[in-house]
Amino acid sequence: MKVIWNNEIVDRSQVRIDPEDRGYQFGDGIYEVIRAYNGTFFCLEEHLDRFYSSASKIEMNVPYTPAELKHLVNRLLDETGIQTGNLYLQLTRGVSSPRNHMYPDAGVLPMLTGTMTAVDRDAAKMEAGIPTIVTDDIRWLKCDIKMISLLGNIMVKHEAHKHNAEEAILHRDGIVTECSSSNLAIVKNGEILTHPDGNLILPGITKLVWIRCAKALGYPVREVPFSLDDLYEAEEVFCSSTTIEVMPVSRIGDHVLFDKVPGKVTRALQNAYLEEIEQQCGLLTV
Ligand code: PDD
Repeated sequence: MKVIWNNEIVDRSQVRIDPEDRGYQFGDGIYEVIRAYNGTFFCLEEHLDRFYSSASKIEMNVPYTPAELKHLVNRLLDETGIQTGNLYLQLTRGVSSPRNHMYPDAGVLPMLTGTMTAVDRDAAKMEAGIPTIVTDDIRWLKCDIKMISLLGNIMVKHEAHKHNAEEAILHRDGIVTECSSSNLAIVKNGEILTHPDGNLILPGITKLVWIRCAKALGYPVREVPFSLDDLYEAEEVFCSSTTIEVMPVSRIGDHVLFDKVPGKVTRALQNAYLEEIEQQCGLLTV
């Protein structure tokens, strides 16, 4: 399988990672996950913008222009021949030896890697929804940076898995932030509520798109903090990310939201999101 390694596309077996790469040693790096449908990336500009924004928030220089990156990821998509799947793009601060917490000199080149994985849309799951749990948001206070140090996220995801759930809904002192790997929204009294961007959540690209869809459909959207009580009183709950799109939540612990069919606002947003995909990437068969 072909992968991106710095500014080249090489066979995966050719990639060499130095044990003192700071991504490997400190989790010092950033990433993006970008979905392709019908051989075309969806929201590529928005994802690349966030990639540069994450890099600048940790004072890391991206040694490529947006045009160069765009060219590279599109070449990878072509060369893998994948139609529908996920690009994982990562930039670490490069190799600094001997190990030293301090940022290395500007001369150290950040290391770029990128892989493509074929993943179909899971239409059945988007209809059935996913079970979730609620747990403490144990992460740090710069969750707006899409960084590769994800131990907090994976620990709460594992907690969900232990409870036969697929996603962990996170809260800080009773205020719902987001999920382990997605944003969260509720529908309460006909309004859609979701946590505002800032340092406590990742500014999701999928969230950006569904908010646009919701406004176009005439649903009131408020980006405000809301409580666990609001969550349990909600008519509908959904999470969103590049890989799961707009995903209904079917239950939160023992609290059942729906049995068979997700709520009508969630379904309307799923359909509108699908239209957005089809506008950019062409008609989908699944
Ligand atoms: N995760 N919040 C968190 C903590 C996330 O990890 C993600 C995405 C999102 C949604 O962001 P977007 O809509 O831009 O995908 C929100 C990706 C998919 C991942 O880490 O695999």
